[in-house]
Amino acid sequence: MFEVREKSVILENGNEIPLVGFGTWPMKGDECYHAIRKAIENGYRHFDTAFHYQNEDAVGRAINDAIEEKKLTRSDFFVTSKLADHHKMPGTPTKMIDHQLEKLGLEYIDLYLIHSPWSLVPTEDLLSMEKKKDASGKLEMIDTPLTETWRELEKAIKSLGVSNFSSSQISDILKICKHRPQMNQVECHPLFPQDELLHFCHEEKINLTAYSPLGGVSREIAETKTKNFEFMKNETILKIAAELEKDPAQVLLKFQVRRGIIVIPKSANDERQKSNKDLFSFDFSKEQLAELESMNGGKEGRGWTEERVSHSKYFPW
Ligand SMILES: NC(=O)c1ccc[n+]([C@@H]2O[C@H](COP(=O)([O-])OP(=O)(O)OC[C@H]3O[C@@H](n4cnc5c(N)ncnc54)[C@H](OP(=O)(O)O)[C@@H]3O)[C@@H](O)[C@H]2O)c1
Repeated sequence: MFEVREKSVILENGNEIPLVGFGTWPMKGDECYHAIRKAIENGYRHFDTAFHYQNEDAVGRAINDAIEEKKLTRSDFFVTSKLADHHKMPGTPTKMIDHQLEKLGLEYIDLYLIHSPWSLVPTEDLLSMEKKKDASGKLEMIDTPLTETWRELEKAIKSLGVSNFSSSQISDILKICKHRPQMNQVECHPLFPQDELLHFCHEEKINLTAYSPLGGVSREIAETKTKNFEFMKNETILKIAAELEKDPAQVLLKFQVRRGIIVIPKSANDERQKSNKDLFSFDFSKEQLAELESMNGGKEGRGWTEERVSHSKYFPW
């Protein structure tokens, strides 16, 4: 089964996931905890985290406290987490699921994604964020096939997906899998709308989640090149927002959800959390849609270029 509904998607495995989720990176600790408590008050039930974000403890604490105080149950929530790039050595993925569940303080994760197709080498401390580099300062890679990682994950968890994968990498997984991938989480916004990947994924009954849907790519991130798109100042976005009497962010998010794409905007701000969820009472005219579609920047529209890992055999783009 795979069905896009008005405010949610029924994944192929039958699990229902809200179309508007909440991104938790780069928040950590108490900032993350309080933002999630606020987001739960504001009606969010779908949270996106990862080992890399180093905030699974805060995410789990906020959900568990809300369950205790607000008469909610675990099944009211949808939690996505991810296998880190330096945790793909055989035997490690299953260990990491146990570790991440303990950090989250949850009995299960609703959807577990392979964060990226490239595979880095950890230092002696597997739980550190440090990765090994060679003498020239380049990140070292391991060569575990993605299909091997998938097979190992399948033994521990049934609801699985990928992130930053190309369609050919997903095809490789589809050839060997027992549990089919449910999701591909990728950068997606009007400058980089991922039309071909969306078509491929929906044909295969795999959902797409848009990360950085508001242009969060504009942040400075150590060792990672990103581009500053300044969507909130973009003329086309501002014009359509004014015509509809909506925020620029609502225009960016609506562009995705009306295509059946899940969005996970991050906001620590109460008002912005509320407006980012308020996407279902308006739509674009044909002309507005054509203007948004004409923003497609082709390859240049990708903000996360990730040159630091472009020497990986599994670099996807
Ligand atoms: N799988 C991956 O490789 C990957 C990569 C990147 C991100 N992600 C996930 O995707 C999530 C979202 O992506 P992102 O954090 O890069 O970027 P984003 O959600 O596109 O943008 C976040 C930024 O936009 C601001 N913002 C939020 N709502 C706004 C509004 N209504 N008007 C104006 N500004 C607004 C936020 O500031 P305030 O907090 O001050 O509102 C924040 O600075 C992450 O949190 C993470 O969970 C996944």
